[in-house]
Amino acid sequence: MKSIDLEVPKGQFLCLVGPSGCGKTTLLNMISGALRPERGSVNVNTQKPRASAVGYMFARDSLMPWRPVRTNVAYALELRGVRKQDRLARADEMLELVGLGGKGHLHPQQLSHGMRQRANLARTLALDPELMLVDEPFGALDAQTKARLQGEFLRIWEGTGKTVIFVTHDLSEAALIADRIVVMGEGEIRKDITVDFERPRDLDKLRFASGYQDLVHSLWGLFSSGEEQ
Ligand SMILES: Nc1ncnc2c1ncn2[C@@H]1O[C@H](COP(=O)(O)OP(=O)(O)O)[C@@H](O)[C@H]1O
Ligand SMILES: [Mg+2]
Repeated sequence: MKSIDLEVPKGQFLCLVGPSGCGKTTLLNMISGALRPERGSVNVNTQKPRASAVGYMFARDSLMPWRPVRTNVAYALELRGVRKQDRLARADEMLELVGLGGKGHLHPQQLSHGMRQRANLARTLALDPELMLVDEPFGALDAQTKARLQGEFLRIWEGTGKTVIFVTHDLSEAALIADRIVVMGEGEIRKDITVDFERPRDLDKLRFASGYQDLVHSLWGLFSSGEEQ
């Protein structure tokens, strides 16, 4: 990290994009409190980041294979000492929200990749974090599944109104889902772009809208005129 000065308003959906190795995951780790900056500070709602305030959804499949989905989703609440009945009720509520109602008894390996990512999202939401950090959740999916999950993720997010920092290296994904795109390059912020497509968004329409395609075009231009040239 060189110098990062970033303020994210409550409820904003921010996409962090940038080439591999530029420090996106490192920045998320600092925001989550897992990594302490050598200089400077991170505040979430004026406080140091706390595990209860920040939900972190990883790129990799991080569900425990030996637990049914329901107790996977309830796990963080279990660590918090929430009563079994209450945490399972909360898990069921979150599974319902992500479209996995009635699937809680299944084990992760019985679910498709897309369903596992939805369970992962339910797990992140179970603690009701103020801020959600999401690191390339759809990177490894085929185009159709990815398109469907982007829509579902957005629909779920629009219902919660939570602040999201979403890392992706996919410019067209960022343009589709974000309110704001922050472009990083080698430990610093290079560009800060506002995306003002109306919400709630109908991604199936937006994908073909000229305003969206113009934005993707100009984002590509930004990258191809970068220092790699
Ligand atoms: N804890 C760490 N200490 C020192 N260097 C690190 C640490 N974590 C990652 N890096 C390095 O920092 C750079 C940025 O990594 P990362 O944040 O993973 O990038 P991105 O997520 O944008 O691909 C890489 O060169 C990586 O090797
Ligand atoms: Mg990364």
